[in-house]
Amino acid sequence: MKRLEGKVALITGAARGQGAAAARCFVAEGARVVLGDVLDCAPVARELGDAAVALTLDVTREEHWLAAVALAESRFGALHVLLNNAGIVRVAPLLETSLEDYRAVVEVNQTGCFLGMRIAAPALIRAGGGAIVNVSSTGGLEGVPHSIAYSASKHAITGMTKTAAIELGRYGIRVNSLHPGGVDTAMLGLSDEQRANAFAFLPLGRVAGVEEIARVAAFLASDDASYMTGSAVLADGGSMAGPLGWNI
Ligand SMILES: NC(=O)c1ccc[n+]([C@@H]2O[C@H](COP(=O)([O-])OP(=O)(O)OC[C@H]3O[C@@H](n4cnc5c(N)ncnc54)[C@H](O)[C@@H]3O)[C@@H](O)[C@H]2O)c1
Repeated sequence: MKRLEGKVALITGAARGQGAAAARCFVAEGARVVLGDVLDCAPVARELGDAAVALTLDVTREEHWLAAVALAESRFGALHVLLNNAGIVRVAPLLETSLEDYRAVVEVNQTGCFLGMRIAAPALIRAGGGAIVNVSSTGGLEGVPHSIAYSASKHAITGMTKTAAIELGRYGIRVNSLHPGGVDTAMLGLSDEQRANAFAFLPLGRVAGVEEIARVAAFLASDDASYMTGSAVLADGGSMAGPLGWNI
């Protein structure tokens, strides 16, 4: 049996990058998916056929979340999985970060994650239980130079995940955070030269492909992870394994 057979998942930030890869992976694992983004998810949904439906979902807007959950239940009968994947970054040193940029990042990454959990959880309860996977980052566990707002928002996701896990366990809902290191998407915007060299310092010596993160998300969403909740799961090529540069 496929890992997500019979499950319905709502995936945010699904128009491209890791969200689109998760959509493909979840459907390959037997799920039906609702895809939301501020960008157009329709091309990804079309590719996946009857197993996918797309809508505009700005994760900062409550009414968009309510519509997404309603679409999952009306189209597919229930909602079992939320993948809170949408995110943005603004790169600047602390001393040059405007309040506007700080708030924009926190609004999408942190408030968006909160709203998603609060609005989707009642549907997961109606479904008899489920799983929430919140995409944080290694930047949700350690500092990220030139990304103060990103680091703040991703640490918030790490903490909110644990609080939600404690509160929602009684309903059969597991909540875990997923912490990728560098992933080769538009967010990183790597040149060919950077792709080849910039991650050589890692134990695994390379940047992650989107499918590698999607497979971890699918695992956390699935019953294979049935005793995991409140966990912070790294998929970082070893970047947080310990001090690097000692590999002599
Ligand atoms: N790329 C990396 O190196 C990396 C590393 C660690 C964690 N992450 C996290 O992984 C997640 C996916 O990022 P990605 O690498 O695929 O980048 P990406 O920029 O390709 O994808 C992010 C998606 O989120 C969408 N989005 C932005 N604001 C939104 C909003 N308000 N509502 C709904 N959707 C919105 C974007 O339109 C985009 O499709 C993010 O949470 C990111 O912070 C990325």
